[in-house]
Amino acid sequence: MIREIVQLGDPVLRKKCEQVTSFDNELNVLLDDMKETLLAAEGAGLAAPQVGVSKRVVAVNVEEGYFEFVNPLFVWQKGEQTGEEGCLSVRGKWGTVTRPDKVKIVYQDRKGDKYSLVARGFFARAVCHELDHLDGVLYVDRAKNLREENE
Ligand code: CO
Repeated sequence: MIREIVQLGDPVLRKKCEQVTSFDNELNVLLDDMKETLLAAEGAGLAAPQVGVSKRVVAVNVEEGYFEFVNPLFVWQKGEQTGEEGCLSVRGKWGTVTRPDKVKIVYQDRKGDKYSLVARGFFARAVCHELDHLDGVLYVDRAKNLREENE
């Protein structure tokens, strides 16, 4: 089911999200709905707080594939890249954000199994953007030259 994407100003976007401890049907439904919502919105990533759920769950949709990360944590971050970023919760705006160029994370899947993953380039940018959401941080906090889509 496609869920409504909450917009900047909604307090849920500023809350620190809770760790997932139950790998149950509710989590499955959340992840399925996030996938449907993200693909319909044609975005690169979606975090659970963006659909009003304050849990440490994100989805990333990039060239490398579609990924679901539960309780993700950075192991390390390397290098630097500067590029354009937007957010489905900040419609019509873009900004320039500097991020690490390469990151390693550990995470769980929807069954609770543990994995690690290295992402680079745009994939790393998307991972950083989505993990920020879990701590109530939005790219607009980090962006230089925040601007409207048509400027
Ligand atoms: Co976002």
